[in-house]
Amino acid sequence: MEIIIQPSAEAGARIGARIVEDLVRKKPEAVLGLATGGTPLGLYRELIRMRRELGLDFSRVTTFNLDEYVGLPPAHPASYRRFMRENFFDHVNIPQTHVPDGMAKDIPAYCEYYEKAIRDAGGIDLQLLGVGHDGHIGFNEPGSSLASRTRIKTLTEETVAANRRFFASEAEVPRHVITMGVGTIMDSRTCLLLAFGEAKARAVAAMAEGPITAMCPASILQMHPRTIVILDEAASRSLKRAAYYRHVYANKPAFQRLSAFPA
Ligand code: PGA
Repeated sequence: MEIIIQPSAEAGARIGARIVEDLVRKKPEAVLGLATGGTPLGLYRELIRMRRELGLDFSRVTTFNLDEYVGLPPAHPASYRRFMRENFFDHVNIPQTHVPDGMAKDIPAYCEYYEKAIRDAGGIDLQLLGVGHDGHIGFNEPGSSLASRTRIKTLTEETVAANRRFFASEAEVPRHVITMGVGTIMDSRTCLLLAFGEAKARAVAAMAEGPITAMCPASILQMHPRTIVILDEAASRSLKRAAYYRHVYANKPAFQRLSAFPA
Protein backbone atom coordinates (compact mmCIF):
# COMPACT_ATOMS: atom_id res chain seq x y z
CA MET A 1 0.00 0.00 0.00
CA GLU A 2 1.47 3.31 -1.07
CA ILE A 3 0.25 6.16 1.13
CA ILE A 4 0.49 9.69 -0.25
CA ILE A 5 -0.27 12.49 2.21
CA GLN A 6 -1.09 15.87 0.70
CA PRO A 7 -1.67 19.27 2.31
CA SER A 8 -5.28 19.47 1.11
CA ALA A 9 -8.08 17.49 -0.50
CA GLU A 10 -7.67 19.62 -3.65
CA ALA A 11 -3.99 18.67 -3.95
CA GLY A 12 -4.92 15.01 -3.33
CA ALA A 13 -7.62 15.12 -6.04
CA ARG A 14 -5.10 16.56 -8.51
CA ILE A 15 -2.63 13.73 -7.88
CA GLY A 16 -5.41 11.16 -8.14
CA ALA A 17 -6.56 12.63 -11.47
CA ARG A 18 -3.00 12.57 -12.77
CA ILE A 19 -2.79 8.85 -11.97
CA VAL A 20 -6.03 8.22 -13.92
CA GLU A 21 -4.79 10.43 -16.77
CA ASP A 22 -1.52 8.53 -16.92
CA LEU A 23 -3.41 5.23 -17.24
CA VAL A 24 -5.83 6.50 -19.91
CA ARG A 25 -2.98 7.95 -21.99
CA LYS A 26 -0.99 4.69 -21.81
CA LYS A 27 -3.99 2.42 -22.20
CA PRO A 28 -6.76 4.27 -24.10
CA GLU A 29 -9.08 1.24 -23.77
CA ALA A 30 -8.70 1.24 -19.97
CA VAL A 31 -11.47 -0.13 -17.78
CA LEU A 32 -12.12 2.21 -14.86
CA GLY A 33 -13.99 1.29 -11.69
CA LEU A 34 -15.72 4.41 -10.39
CA ALA A 35 -17.10 5.55 -7.06
CA THR A 36 -19.72 8.04 -5.86
CA GLY A 37 -19.93 10.13 -2.69
CA GLY A 38 -18.31 13.39 -1.71
CA THR A 39 -14.74 12.11 -1.86
CA PRO A 40 -14.13 11.64 -5.62
CA LEU A 41 -15.81 14.89 -6.71
CA GLY A 42 -12.56 16.88 -6.90
CA LEU A 43 -10.92 14.13 -8.94
CA TYR A 44 -13.85 14.08 -11.40
CA ARG A 45 -13.68 17.88 -11.70
CA GLU A 46 -9.99 17.64 -12.50
CA LEU A 47 -10.55 14.93 -15.15
CA ILE A 48 -13.29 17.08 -16.74
CA ARG A 49 -10.80 19.97 -16.85
CA MET A 50 -8.23 17.68 -18.50
CA ARG A 51 -10.83 16.64 -21.08
CA ARG A 52 -11.68 20.28 -21.82
CA GLU A 53 -8.25 21.88 -21.69
CA LEU A 54 -5.88 19.07 -22.61
CA GLY A 55 -8.15 16.97 -24.82
CA LEU A 56 -7.79 13.89 -22.59
CA ASP A 57 -9.61 11.26 -24.63
CA PHE A 58 -11.98 8.77 -22.96
CA SER A 59 -13.53 7.54 -26.22
CA ARG A 60 -12.30 3.97 -25.74
CA VAL A 61 -12.69 3.82 -21.96
CA THR A 62 -15.25 1.59 -20.26
CA THR A 63 -16.44 2.22 -16.70
CA PHE A 64 -18.09 0.18 -13.97
CA ASN A 65 -19.45 1.82 -10.84
CA LEU A 66 -19.16 0.17 -7.46
CA ASP A 67 -22.74 0.36 -6.29
CA GLU A 68 -26.31 1.62 -6.53
CA TYR A 69 -29.36 1.85 -4.28
CA VAL A 70 -32.00 -0.84 -4.73
CA GLY A 71 -35.34 0.64 -5.78
CA LEU A 72 -34.10 3.97 -7.15
CA PRO A 73 -34.70 4.54 -10.86
CA PRO A 74 -31.73 5.98 -12.79
CA ALA A 75 -33.32 9.45 -12.97
CA HIS A 76 -33.94 9.71 -9.19
CA PRO A 77 -31.98 12.71 -7.86
CA ALA A 78 -30.17 10.52 -5.31
CA SER A 79 -29.41 7.57 -7.63
CA TYR A 80 -25.78 6.91 -8.32
CA ARG A 81 -26.47 6.76 -12.07
CA ARG A 82 -27.74 10.33 -11.83
CA PHE A 83 -24.79 11.35 -9.63
CA MET A 84 -22.36 9.98 -12.20
CA ARG A 85 -24.14 11.69 -15.10
CA GLU A 86 -24.17 15.05 -13.40
CA ASN A 87 -20.69 14.94 -11.93
CA PHE A 88 -18.75 13.14 -14.64
CA PHE A 89 -20.34 11.27 -17.55
CA ASP A 90 -22.15 14.28 -19.07
CA HIS A 91 -18.87 16.20 -19.23
CA VAL A 92 -16.50 13.67 -20.82
CA ASN A 93 -16.64 11.35 -23.83
CA ILE A 94 -16.99 7.87 -22.32
CA PRO A 95 -19.13 5.66 -24.58
CA GLN A 96 -19.60 2.68 -22.25
CA THR A 97 -20.65 3.28 -18.68
CA HIS A 98 -22.08 0.75 -16.25
CA VAL A 99 -23.78 1.51 -12.95
CA PRO A 100 -25.58 -1.37 -11.21
CA ASP A 101 -29.31 -1.33 -11.98
CA GLY A 102 -31.14 -0.69 -8.73
CA MET A 103 -34.43 -1.56 -10.45
CA ALA A 104 -33.33 -5.04 -11.59
CA LYS A 105 -36.19 -7.52 -11.15
CA ASP A 106 -33.99 -10.56 -10.48
CA ILE A 107 -31.19 -9.13 -8.34
CA PRO A 108 -29.03 -12.30 -7.99
CA ALA A 109 -29.14 -12.86 -11.78
CA TYR A 110 -28.35 -9.19 -12.36
CA CYS A 111 -25.35 -9.36 -10.00
CA GLU A 112 -24.00 -12.37 -11.91
CA TYR A 113 -24.45 -10.43 -15.15
CA TYR A 114 -22.52 -7.47 -13.68
CA GLU A 115 -19.61 -9.71 -12.67
CA LYS A 116 -19.57 -11.25 -16.17
CA ALA A 117 -19.68 -7.83 -17.83
CA ILE A 118 -16.58 -6.81 -15.85
CA ARG A 119 -14.80 -10.03 -16.85
CA ASP A 120 -15.86 -9.66 -20.50
CA ALA A 121 -14.44 -6.12 -20.55
CA GLY A 122 -11.08 -7.58 -19.51
CA GLY A 123 -11.27 -6.76 -15.79
CA ILE A 124 -10.88 -3.42 -14.05
CA ASP A 125 -7.55 -1.66 -14.56
CA LEU A 126 -8.05 0.94 -11.86
CA GLN A 127 -10.72 0.99 -9.18
CA LEU A 128 -11.41 4.31 -7.54
CA LEU A 129 -12.49 3.96 -3.89
CA GLY A 130 -13.57 6.00 -0.91
CA VAL A 131 -13.77 4.57 2.58
CA GLY A 132 -16.73 4.74 4.94
CA HIS A 133 -16.39 5.86 8.56
CA ASP A 134 -16.95 2.21 9.47
CA GLY A 135 -14.25 0.96 7.08
CA HIS A 136 -16.57 -0.06 4.23
CA ILE A 137 -15.45 -0.03 0.60
CA GLY A 138 -18.15 0.03 -2.04
CA PHE A 139 -21.11 -0.72 0.20
CA ASN A 140 -19.38 -3.69 1.80
CA GLU A 141 -20.25 -3.01 5.41
CA PRO A 142 -18.31 -4.50 8.36
CA GLY A 143 -18.82 -8.26 8.44
CA SER A 144 -18.85 -8.55 4.63
CA SER A 145 -17.01 -11.59 3.36
CA LEU A 146 -13.57 -10.54 2.22
CA ALA A 147 -14.10 -12.86 -0.77
CA SER A 148 -17.57 -11.52 -1.66
CA ARG A 149 -18.75 -10.76 -5.19
CA THR A 150 -21.39 -8.34 -6.51
CA ARG A 151 -24.57 -8.84 -4.48
CA ILE A 152 -27.33 -7.16 -2.49
CA LYS A 153 -26.37 -5.73 0.91
CA THR A 154 -28.26 -4.10 3.77
CA LEU A 155 -26.81 -0.78 4.90
CA THR A 156 -25.87 -0.16 8.52
CA GLU A 157 -27.76 2.57 10.34
CA GLU A 158 -24.47 4.54 10.41
CA THR A 159 -24.26 4.53 6.60
CA VAL A 160 -27.95 5.39 6.27
CA ALA A 161 -27.32 8.40 8.54
CA ALA A 162 -24.18 9.40 6.60
CA ASN A 163 -26.11 9.33 3.30
CA ARG A 164 -29.21 11.04 4.65
CA ARG A 165 -27.89 14.37 3.27
CA PHE A 166 -28.69 13.27 -0.29
CA PHE A 167 -32.37 12.59 0.52
CA ALA A 168 -35.33 14.65 1.72
CA SER A 169 -35.60 12.56 4.91
CA GLU A 170 -33.88 9.60 6.57
CA ALA A 171 -36.97 7.47 5.90
CA GLU A 172 -36.34 7.89 2.16
CA VAL A 173 -32.78 6.48 2.24
CA PRO A 174 -32.97 2.99 0.74
CA ARG A 175 -31.84 0.27 3.15
CA HIS A 176 -30.60 -2.04 0.38
CA VAL A 177 -27.93 -1.64 -2.27
CA ILE A 178 -26.23 -3.61 -5.01
CA THR A 179 -22.49 -3.45 -4.53
CA MET A 180 -19.41 -5.00 -6.06
CA GLY A 181 -18.01 -7.42 -3.50
CA VAL A 182 -14.72 -7.12 -1.68
CA GLY A 183 -13.39 -9.92 -3.89
CA THR A 184 -14.55 -8.05 -7.01
CA ILE A 185 -12.65 -4.96 -5.85
CA MET A 186 -9.56 -7.03 -5.02
CA ASP A 187 -9.48 -8.33 -8.63
CA SER A 188 -8.81 -4.79 -9.92
CA ARG A 189 -5.25 -4.35 -11.13
CA THR A 190 -4.82 -1.09 -9.22
CA CYS A 191 -6.90 0.35 -6.38
CA LEU A 192 -6.85 4.12 -5.88
CA LEU A 193 -8.43 5.04 -2.55
CA LEU A 194 -9.02 8.65 -1.53
CA ALA A 195 -9.93 9.84 1.97
CA PHE A 196 -10.15 13.42 3.11
CA GLY A 197 -11.05 15.06 6.41
CA GLU A 198 -10.70 14.32 10.10
CA ALA A 199 -13.84 12.18 10.16
CA LYS A 200 -12.03 9.54 8.06
CA ALA A 201 -8.84 9.41 10.19
CA ARG A 202 -9.89 6.44 12.32
CA ALA A 203 -11.08 4.36 9.34
CA VAL A 204 -7.86 5.15 7.46
CA ALA A 205 -5.67 4.01 10.38
CA ALA A 206 -7.72 0.82 10.77
CA MET A 207 -7.44 0.16 7.03
CA ALA A 208 -3.70 0.75 6.68
CA GLU A 209 -2.26 -0.17 10.07
CA GLY A 210 -4.86 -2.32 11.79
CA PRO A 211 -5.41 -6.07 11.54
CA ILE A 212 -6.92 -7.49 8.35
CA THR A 213 -10.46 -8.19 9.37
CA ALA A 214 -13.96 -8.30 7.91
CA MET A 215 -14.82 -5.82 10.68
CA CYS A 216 -12.95 -3.26 8.54
CA PRO A 217 -13.41 -4.44 4.94
CA ALA A 218 -10.96 -1.81 3.63
CA SER A 219 -8.18 -3.54 5.61
CA ILE A 220 -8.10 -6.32 2.98
CA LEU A 221 -6.38 -3.79 0.71
CA GLN A 222 -3.22 -4.62 2.71
CA MET A 223 -3.29 -7.85 0.67
CA HIS A 224 -3.67 -6.06 -2.66
CA PRO A 225 -0.43 -5.88 -4.64
CA ARG A 226 -1.06 -2.38 -5.90
CA THR A 227 -3.10 0.02 -3.81
CA ILE A 228 -2.44 3.76 -3.78
CA VAL A 229 -4.03 5.72 -0.92
CA ILE A 230 -4.24 9.51 -1.17
CA LEU A 231 -5.00 11.46 2.00
CA ASP A 232 -5.10 15.02 3.19
CA GLU A 233 -3.43 15.96 6.47
CA ALA A 234 -6.61 15.57 8.49
CA ALA A 235 -7.35 12.05 7.26
CA SER A 236 -3.75 10.99 7.99
CA ARG A 237 -3.82 12.17 11.60
CA SER A 238 -4.25 8.77 13.28
CA LEU A 239 -1.56 6.98 11.25
CA LYS A 240 1.36 5.83 13.41
CA ARG A 241 3.79 5.71 10.50
CA ALA A 242 2.80 8.93 8.72
CA ALA A 243 6.38 10.25 8.89
CA TYR A 244 7.64 7.16 7.07
CA TYR A 245 4.98 7.45 4.33
CA ARG A 246 5.98 11.07 3.76
CA HIS A 247 9.63 10.08 3.65
CA VAL A 248 8.93 7.34 1.08
CA TYR A 249 6.97 9.72 -1.15
CA ALA A 250 9.60 12.46 -0.93
CA ASN A 251 12.35 9.98 -1.84
CA LYS A 252 10.68 8.03 -4.62
CA PRO A 253 13.19 6.83 -7.18
CA ALA A 254 12.97 8.93 -10.36
CA PHE A 255 11.55 6.11 -12.51
CA GLN A 256 8.64 5.68 -10.08
CA ARG A 257 8.02 9.40 -9.80
CA LEU A 258 7.51 9.86 -13.52
CA SER A 259 4.57 7.53 -13.84
CA ALA A 260 2.31 5.20 -11.90
CA PHE A 261 1.93 2.81 -14.84
CA PRO A 262 4.59 1.18 -17.00
CA ALA A 263 4.56 2.30 -20.64
P1 PGA B 1 -17.98 9.83 1.03
O1 PGA B 1 -18.35 8.27 1.14
O2 PGA B 1 -17.06 9.95 -0.12
O3 PGA B 1 -19.30 10.53 0.78
O4 PGA B 1 -17.35 10.19 2.33
C1 PGA B 1 -17.32 7.33 1.10
C2 PGA B 1 -17.89 5.96 1.32
O5 PGA B 1 -18.85 5.82 2.09
O6 PGA B 1 -17.37 5.00 0.74
